[in-house]
Amino acid sequence: MHEFQPYPIDLLEFNPFTKLSNEWMLITAGDRRKANAMTASWGGLGVLWGKNIAVIFVRESRYTKEFIDNGEYFSCCFFGPKYKNALKYFGAASGRQEDKFKAAKLNLNYKRGIPFVDEGNFIVLCQKMAAVPIREEHFLLPEIKEKWYSGKDEDNFHTMYVGEILEILAR
Ligand SMILES: Cc1cc2nc3c(=O)[nH]c(=O)nc-3n(C[C@H](O)[C@H](O)[C@H](O)COP(=O)(O)O)c2cc1C
Repeated sequence: MHEFQPYPIDLLEFNPFTKLSNEWMLITAGDRRKANAMTASWGGLGVLWGKNIAVIFVRESRYTKEFIDNGEYFSCCFFGPKYKNALKYFGAASGRQEDKFKAAKLNLNYKRGIPFVDEGNFIVLCQKMAAVPIREEHFLLPEIKEKWYSGKDEDNFHTMYVGEILEILAR
């Protein structure tokens, strides 16, 4: 396992837009018995209810959603460029069908009992504050439904999870 240091949130210098859109992240949830992870590029960092928060958006169909819903925590892990193929794989295969960690040779690590991916270099540990299912009646622009929730994804809506950032780890 790698050594991680707590990273003070006031020292953050990256651009959250390029980090999410270009580098992506793995969202991991579960416990020591079983955990799952998926690639995500939608999300954000900010402030809400007096806390520093991360927000993520997870579709109904994702196996990872079951782990997020059943637990209290999730983590967001960022990686160096050599893990891009692993992130592609975690975003294409489902943990329902295969053991993605074994196949991609990535390892689970834990802090405060929260699972994260040991090969990551920047880890955001979160405690769930809110889970908000986003449904068609919430869209104010018709193109959202057309573009993102039609065909096979007709009812495959996203849930927005707001998590308090408990700790950031870096190595
Ligand atoms: C670059 C990229 C970004 C993605 N972003 C998200 C996202 O923000 N939310 C989401 O629900 N799925 C997203 N996905 C799709 C999931 O990662 C994918 O469906 C994955 O296979 C789910 O795995 P699971 O069933 O093991 O949870 C993304 C996939 C890729 C490749």
